Amino acid sequence: MLERIEEIRDQAGEAIEAATGTAELEELRIRYLGRKAELTTILRGIGELGDQERGRVGAAANQARQALERRLAARAERLDSAELDARLLADRVDVTLPGAPPLPVGHLHLITRTTRQIEDVMVGLGYRVMEGPEIEHDYYNFTALNHPPGHPARMLQDTFYLDPSSIVAGLGNRPSGESASSLRGETRSGDASSYGAQDVLLRTHTSPMQVRAMETQQPPIFVVVPGKVYRRDSDATHSPMFHQMEGLAVAEGITLADLKGTLLTMVRALFGEERQVRLRPHFFPFTEPSLEVDVSCFQCGGSGELAGGERCNLCKGQGWIEILGAGMVDPKVLGFVAANGYDPQRVQGFAFGLGIERVAMLRHGVPDLRRFFDNDLQMLEQFL
Ligand code: PHE
Repeated sequence: MLERIEEIRDQAGEAIEAATGTAELEELRIRYLGRKAELTTILRGIGELGDQERGRVGAAANQARQALERRLAARAERLDSAELDARLLADRVDVTLPGAPPLPVGHLHLITRTTRQIEDVMVGLGYRVMEGPEIEHDYYNFTALNHPPGHPARMLQDTFYLDPSSIVAGLGNRPSGESASSLRGETRSGDASSYGAQDVLLRTHTSPMQVRAMETQQPPIFVVVPGKVYRRDSDATHSPMFHQMEGLAVAEGITLADLKGTLLTMVRALFGEERQVRLRPHFFPFTEPSLEVDVSCFQCGGSGELAGGERCNLCKGQGWIEILGAGMVDPKVLGFVAANGYDPQRVQGFAFGLGIERVAMLRHGVPDLRRFFDNDLQMLEQFL
């Protein structure tokens, strides 16, 4: 009996070492240690053996059983990790391969791309990019930009007004200074409920950020501010919502020549190295002098005529295309932030405001500004 136990132990041991998979190992476990296994039968029959034999056979059979259990466990562990390695190797995925078929991915909207291109040019000139709120106080949109309440220039930029009580939490502290409601004798004690019906509006331009930027940063300041603006306007070249890029530079000794040089750099980056700029006198309440800025036509090269002799349709034969409003920051605007270092006797600067849709329309020959916002993919996908 003892010999037989020894034999089983050796035979099973060899079989376990030779097993090539966990499934095979499980079969061996059943064959050598299962309910019907020879060793199990021996152990079960121990009680029937004589006194002398019982102790020796029992000890040998139990030892054999334990030894086999240990070998099975050890072999199982090795086979498990080998099988895992093999599986990992077989399942390997190259995540850098394109999908099959490759799925089309989207791309940035032309307005976003144009915005970023302009930002890039200006960042190259040392400007910082800032953004500001689209829901604006009358104070920043008009009053601090030298449109006092009742100023007729406010009429040129009718906009959408918001019921202040609907957005009380977002209003923050009310800026000091006159506003539309104070002119009408309405209360202005500082909490949100004191906002008058015309004190909170959708900004009509990005210029309110001139004052906000100067409130947060002392001179010298060089910032550009892209963003959405709103006006009561709608036709092929106007939309109630559109985008502008504001530029503001204030420091000691800034002149109109700096403005011209900056704009020249910008339009050449956007419209081609041969472009020229032309400054025409204009009026904005917050710049003095104020200018309208034209770029020489990039379709006819500024001659107003196409190769065949016919009139250039892009500039309407003018040779120049109006692209933005600009001017030297009015000392009165600086006066609103004089306490933050903007003493109009010491610093001066320029500002400009560019319509981003207008730039995109000109550069890509888009005839109707509203197409940018129709969400027509066939239209938008042209501008990859
Ligand atoms: N904010 C003006 C507009 O929207 C443009 C402008 C900006 C003019 C800065 C002068 C200086 O028409």
